Amino acid sequence: MPSLTNAAVEARVPPAGCRAVAHSNIALAKYWGKRDIERNLPDVPSLSLTLAALSTTTRVRFDPDARADEVTLNGAPADAGAAAKVSALLDRVRATAGLGWRARVTSDNDFPTASGLASSASGFAALALAALGAAGLSWAPPAVSALARASSVSAARSVFGGFVALEAGASEAAPAAAAEAASALRMVIAVTETGPKKVGSTQGMLGTQRTSPYYEAWRSAAPRIYTELRAALAGGEFERVGDAMEHSTLCMHATMLAATPALIYWNPQTLAVTSRVRELRASGAFAYFTMDAGPHVKVLTLADQAERVRRELEAVPGVHRVIVSAAGGAARLEGAA
Ligand code: DP6
Repeated sequence: MPSLTNAAVEARVPPAGCRAVAHSNIALAKYWGKRDIERNLPDVPSLSLTLAALSTTTRVRFDPDARADEVTLNGAPADAGAAAKVSALLDRVRATAGLGWRARVTSDNDFPTASGLASSASGFAALALAALGAAGLSWAPPAVSALARASSVSAARSVFGGFVALEAGASEAAPAAAAEAASALRMVIAVTETGPKKVGSTQGMLGTQRTSPYYEAWRSAAPRIYTELRAALAGGEFERVGDAMEHSTLCMHATMLAATPALIYWNPQTLAVTSRVRELRASGAFAYFTMDAGPHVKVLTLADQAERVRRELEAVPGVHRVIVSAAGGAARLEGAA
């Protein structure tokens, strides 16, 4: 680490720090599995939609008087695990910037964190952008995406808006040109449980990779599903997009179910919502489901059907709340913290 008194380096550091906002994203073609655990590279390609309704605001200030990184998440001190992941990202930024100062970090979600909705994607994308700005560095989006990906693979995708692709083994995500589809579609999220998720995605996927007899089948199916979904999206064939999306989540969960110990993220309400989605579809609505490392169900629909889908999902017993989201934009720096 260079000297703390390196005046040239410190002169670049904005005294007030920087604030960044990033949106969460939901994968239509799922990432589950690591090609390189050390470097945190994905084993399969994924494709996501960035969501306007779920965002994280993160403030970072490098402070010559701070003795250690100080991390506050949603108003409370971060637990040791989360704080260590934040410091690891800050260390990468400090090493490139030649900066020795510790940082004060606050991060707040505009959606209930206790609902168990993914916050690491938006969180690490916002942290990457805010930390670079606070260190006086200005990186192009692909480099910001690679920095976020090193902390959490799905965060690489939250650096960009709309539909975003991340290839197998890739360092950074890239926008998947589908602007018309992004404005035509909505994601309707049925929250089926409160409280944080039981097995984190990193731990869950490493266990799946190590023990599931179906992991190799997933590894060969996932790229085909991704290619099918991408082609359907490019052609504006939304039913094909929906079919591929459901196939992706069901293949991923089948692989998890076969792990030891079995990884079962669903609860009874999860299945109740998926049944309602299939009934809706049978009655002519456009509605397709996807689930991640938790019991909530995200339903892809068209803008003009989103209110109907919302009402239908709210009526499913055990659904706590429903959030409707349009496509969100890229992560952005908002200036001083
Ligand atoms: C099911 O990106 O949270 O949401 O790289 O270990 O931090 P790490 O995992 P993470 O996994 C997300 C898994 C998923 C599918 C997806 O978002 O593609």
